[in-house]
Amino acid sequence: MLDLLVTHANLPDGRTDMSIAVRDGRIVEVAPRIDAQAHETVDAGGMLLTPHFVDPHFHMDATLSYGLPRVNQSGTLLEGIALWGELKPTLTADAIIERALAYCDWAVAKGLLAIRSHVDTSDPSILAVEALLDVKRRVAPYLDLQLVAFPQDGLLRTKGGVDNLKRALDLGVDVIGGIPHFERTMAEGAATVKLLCEIAAERGKLVDMHCDESDDPLSRHIETLAYETQRLGLQGRVTGSHCTSMHSMDNYYVSKLLPLIAESGVSVIANPLINITLQGRHDTYPKRRGMTRVPELMNAGVNVAFGHDCVMDPWYSLGCGDMLEVAHMGLHVAQMTSQEGMRRCFDAVTTNAAKVMHLQGYGLRVGCDASFVLLQARDPIEAIRLRATRLKVFRKGRLVAETSPTTATLDLEGRPQKTDWIARPRDTAK
Ligand code: FE2
Repeated sequence: MLDLLVTHANLPDGRTDMSIAVRDGRIVEVAPRIDAQAHETVDAGGMLLTPHFVDPHFHMDATLSYGLPRVNQSGTLLEGIALWGELKPTLTADAIIERALAYCDWAVAKGLLAIRSHVDTSDPSILAVEALLDVKRRVAPYLDLQLVAFPQDGLLRTKGGVDNLKRALDLGVDVIGGIPHFERTMAEGAATVKLLCEIAAERGKLVDMHCDESDDPLSRHIETLAYETQRLGLQGRVTGSHCTSMHSMDNYYVSKLLPLIAESGVSVIANPLINITLQGRHDTYPKRRGMTRVPELMNAGVNVAFGHDCVMDPWYSLGCGDMLEVAHMGLHVAQMTSQEGMRRCFDAVTTNAAKVMHLQGYGLRVGCDASFVLLQARDPIEAIRLRATRLKVFRKGRLVAETSPTTATLDLEGRPQKTDWIARPRDTAK
């Protein structure tokens, strides 16, 4: 007897009319037809069943704090950091936990079941670290929360920065972060990359650094990150986040940099919603977009994922945990409008992001966790176009969220109600 059987589902790899059988929280069979009894059967009706969404870059300690103590007037990264500095002394663990849990509820409703969140370690009390470790334990039954020790004010620029970061790691934070472009000098930034990678090698940790979130084409810490990754044998365990300076770099230099990143096995995370608003603020016209070179990195063989980064905080005033909105913005900013390009944007918020986080049991194969989302769309492109309704969200075989399908309730002109309402251009048909 199965626990759950999903029938007539389309899968992200293009297979249609597939069934998926679930027992004890895991996928036990994937086939066109499965003849077995199940406690619960879901007829997907030709809609897309996808592994859950993954956000590989977020700041949960700041989320839902928009307007506290004031809003960001200039819209720049630097005013956001200053504003966060004003807010920090007033933060309480209870307030951080309450906001984080509220966000996680939103995330689950949107089919987002794994989040990598940076947590600021600059404050000697490491209040936010303890709060988010508590949140991590509390949400574990329904959401994987991975934490990154993030010295927001600069590892070397902050008194006690290295000790604070190490204390966060001792408490159980999973990943080592950094912000080399915010250190006092380029040389000090490079020194933090080296030091943080050495700590990671020593402790067997993953690395995810905010890297070159700047419009300065000479901000080249990603080069040092790739070099240190190779030197210390950390291939596949390191990520460079944002990397926006690459947008403004000289093309010749980038032609050398891309293969260097690829051979080091460093993943890159672009945060399209945030960097399309934060970057280029010192420009008049033409005004740079400021997102990293996504298709070029992908074509070079680099694993590229998209992150949400912020929701309602000192840096960004919008957002709702919808990774399809993130993919939609990424697609536009990177002009990835080909069929293949749009599918790659879907991968950037699912499989590529899961790879960044080293998620175990992710996917729709036999043996994987039955953690998937039934969308009101037939394929990944339609899902992005519609920012599709999450009809059902399952976590290890258990239904954790449900949303009614989007449909008209009135037929004002007397036409027969169209149930098959999603238009499909011929070239997207399978
Ligand atoms: Fe960030």
